[in-house]
Amino acid sequence: MNILLIGSGGREHALAWSLSASALCDKLFIAPGNPGTAQCGDNVALDVTDHRAVIDFCRVMGVDFVVVGPEAPLVAGLVDDLKAADIKAFGPTKAAAQLEGSKAFTKDLCAEFGIPTATYRRFTDAEAAKAYIRSFGVPIVVKADGLAAGKGVVVATSFEDAEAAVDMMIGGGLGQAGAEVVIEAFLEGEEASFFALCDGRTAIPLGTAQDHKRVFDGDQGPNTGGMGAYSPATVLTAELQDRAMREIIEPTLAGMAARGAPYTGILYAGLMLAAEGPQLIEYNARLGDPETQVLLPRLKSDLLTALLAACDGVLNTVSLQWKDETALTVVMAAKGYPGPVEKGSDIRGIAAAETLPGILVFHAGTKQVEGRIVANGGRVLNVTALGATIGEAQKRAYEAVDRIDWPEGFCRRDIGWRAVEREQG
Ligand code: AMP
Ligand code: GLY
Repeated sequence: MNILLIGSGGREHALAWSLSASALCDKLFIAPGNPGTAQCGDNVALDVTDHRAVIDFCRVMGVDFVVVGPEAPLVAGLVDDLKAADIKAFGPTKAAAQLEGSKAFTKDLCAEFGIPTATYRRFTDAEAAKAYIRSFGVPIVVKADGLAAGKGVVVATSFEDAEAAVDMMIGGGLGQAGAEVVIEAFLEGEEASFFALCDGRTAIPLGTAQDHKRVFDGDQGPNTGGMGAYSPATVLTAELQDRAMREIIEPTLAGMAARGAPYTGILYAGLMLAAEGPQLIEYNARLGDPETQVLLPRLKSDLLTALLAACDGVLNTVSLQWKDETALTVVMAAKGYPGPVEKGSDIRGIAAAETLPGILVFHAGTKQVEGRIVANGGRVLNVTALGATIGEAQKRAYEAVDRIDWPEGFCRRDIGWRAVEREQG
């Protein structure tokens, strides 16, 4: 079959790598893709915000199945429009993608269906929000309701910070996304990510991961989209995963179906492993980036078959097989990230890195210019390694990183430190 994958980051390179390996895949198109995805299929310069253009492309090229990587096209209703045009598409509808698109929607769903999450209130009035903060105390968490490209959450340890966050968000600092805020209790514990593949009624686990959000070693400095990740996240024991399925994922599917918005696609649950059990921090309606770059290299089963089964509502017939190995990815970013970065610097040595055992280099923000690979964004490469242990995966990943010659880039040198320490006892 012919497939169109939407997106252009490291997540999409990993997806393209998996999908193109399927015996069911004849032709893979990626829109807009990157130089990494171009090794797996044909990049096409489609404007994916123009749903009519995407539909026309599918008709002309005989695309049988569309896989949507990022959240923006999901929240914009691309899957709805494709389905209305009789084109099979993987990902939640616009109504179902509210689980990522609106934090207030998700919190209300949790309250209605008894899903464990931090206590919260919703506000559109800044003074009322501040009065609540004063009565609640700190630490407290202020969240913009809508999509805010990673800038919508403030964990405040002082009243001043909490109130400033309210003023910034309700005052329009994040545009429409902050017009409503959710204020919630601060949860203590270790964070881990849990992924489930959903067909509207049935969910199956799609692996676990932990990422490193802070830009510098030792989890210091500003938050980023993720500087590295590893999978599996051993803190999410089999027992905790069962609880997450029973107490969080399954009631969410039931709740979404009851609301007339059955959830088909990936549910990416950000969990806090609190003393009383897993608590939902937030949902994403897609795979994580860079978490996908460590989930998919461990998957033995055919990804495309599983995604099709989710679309066809037959996930109850699917069971996924995984490699025993651990995967770890190191994000190489342009100096200055997560602030402004220079584009266009030369990157050499990717092929040399890939000759090492168990190494995959996924492209995130690169561009091909006259046969050279140059940096074209903040997060640029994801150097992924498989290993028998997390320690081995980490060692291999950094050996590969050291073969990449890119003076204008940097990476954290301690990805996986918590898990490596745990493993070494
Ligand atoms: P989110 O964008 O919702 O994932 O939030 C970004 C980060 O803020 C999370 O990964 C957590 O580290 C932190 N965070 C969000 N909500 C809470 C909470 N209720 N308690 C503690 N930390 C939180
Ligand atoms: N790595 C975090 C995310 O994909 O949202």
